[in-house]
Amino acid sequence: AWKRMSKGGKLPPGPTPIPFLGNVLQVRTDATFQSFMKLKEKYGPVFTVYMGPRPVVILCGHEAVKEALVDRADEFSGRGELASIERNFQGHGVALANGERWRILRRFSLTILRDFGMGKRSIEERIQEEAGFLLVELRKTKGARIEPTFFLSRTVSNVISSVVFGSRFDYEDKQFLKLLQMINQSFIEMSTSWAQLYDMYSGIMQYLPGRHNRIYYLIEELKDFIASRVKINEASLDPQNPRDFIDCFLIKMHQDKNNPHTEFNLKNLVLTTLNLFFAGTETVSSTLRYGLLLMMKHPEVEAKIHEEIDQVIGPHRIPSVDDRAKMPYTDAVIHEIQRLTDIVPMGVPHNVIRDTHFRGYLLPKGTDVFPLLGSVLKDPKYFRYPDAFYPQHFLDEQGHFKKNEAFVPFSSGKRICLGEAMARMELFLYFTSILQNFSLRSLVPPADIDITPKVSGFGNIPPTYELCFMVR
Ligand code: HEM
Ligand code: ZN
Repeated sequence: AWKRMSKGGKLPPGPTPIPFLGNVLQVRTDATFQSFMKLKEKYGPVFTVYMGPRPVVILCGHEAVKEALVDRADEFSGRGELASIERNFQGHGVALANGERWRILRRFSLTILRDFGMGKRSIEERIQEEAGFLLVELRKTKGARIEPTFFLSRTVSNVISSVVFGSRFDYEDKQFLKLLQMINQSFIEMSTSWAQLYDMYSGIMQYLPGRHNRIYYLIEELKDFIASRVKINEASLDPQNPRDFIDCFLIKMHQDKNNPHTEFNLKNLVLTTLNLFFAGTETVSSTLRYGLLLMMKHPEVEAKIHEEIDQVIGPHRIPSVDDRAKMPYTDAVIHEIQRLTDIVPMGVPHNVIRDTHFRGYLLPKGTDVFPLLGSVLKDPKYFRYPDAFYPQHFLDEQGHFKKNEAFVPFSSGKRICLGEAMARMELFLYFTSILQNFSLRSLVPPADIDITPKVSGFGNIPPTYELCFMVR
């Protein structure tokens, strides 16, 4: 962070920073997003805060975020510093990379995700099969109360696992559960006020003991696991028959082995695989977990979904992606769940890749930018009741699905979520499969269900709760 002091330029206005400490007085580490929303009242939708010594340009609301990420897509396509995990990634892996490295890894990752989706077996079939296994597990609970976190993450993770590792894990696999617990915990740790504080003062805190170091060790352990899978793949590699993402990457590594500058190296392999495995697991399963809670808070919505499922799919047929177009209400509810739960409220940090003129300011090359996705998803110009759960946000008067350009849970522009297509398929198929077979029973009355996140920082972590799955 030290090297990122503003070099000239003309940054947007913002609160006066204290030397070195930055805007510690204005940005509460336990409520970063809310602090930014307060500053927006005073400084408008584009302002500068100093996260410690580092200036960051904050973008609020649909217009400002779109103007940057979409209209000026190239300039704003850099990845900014995500201090809490920088020690683990050091600019490697598709999600944290920049420049040529990022372009190569992103193109490669998208190609492989698409190929394994169109090959012998489509991703859709893989999700349908995996959802079937989940239903079996849920039936086994016989309506007893359960905490749903790992029921959901095991099944969701198996979809991306099939792509990157070539096979699913058994639900009883102890190592699998441990990996998922570490991913779950990492997402929480990245969202605590310790992580936000670290984001400001990593320059010194990286040398100090404390809770902020937990995330480092968690991610290192996940890296070790991936590295061990890479070794297993390497030992049994058949270049004519790649089995998964790791095989395809290894083949590229062998082809490029005489090029010392290649981006197809072990570090990028391990860290890109970890990006996909992590992002492919925790985001979708957190969204489902939050979504089920919202259904119990709004039983009238769950009832309408049951009705639409019964009409369009019936009780026996397995839901397919083609059903979505005939199920506008369910589609709208899933959009509204993603909008309101706002899993990544401050987005992932961006960075301008050259000196950039923006709204009369000049952002010097290398300036970090936070596109506050949560402020877009709750932009009052685009959503009638920004803080309410209101599926009609995505329905017209005739009950048809209605798009909304401020729906950006996956962000937008050149860095838009690489797994969006897979994630949207999973959300629809899991959601409809679960509700086709079960109704949800809450242990507390709807009015008493608190939907405030358990932790809010980098992520909005859903509250912990229990429920019963009652066979319909
Ligand atoms: C990036 C959201 C599912 C892989 C992102 C970003 C967001 C996001 C907000 C940052 C975009 C930016 O930099 O502006 C979500 C949500 C998901 C989801 C809400 C589910 C509900 C997935 C899945 C995968 C995935 C299933 C894997 C298949 C990635 C990767 C990146 C990314 C690799 C980094 C892209 C880059 O830096 O070029 N996602 N994601 N995500 N996501 Fe997702
Ligand atoms: Zn309601």
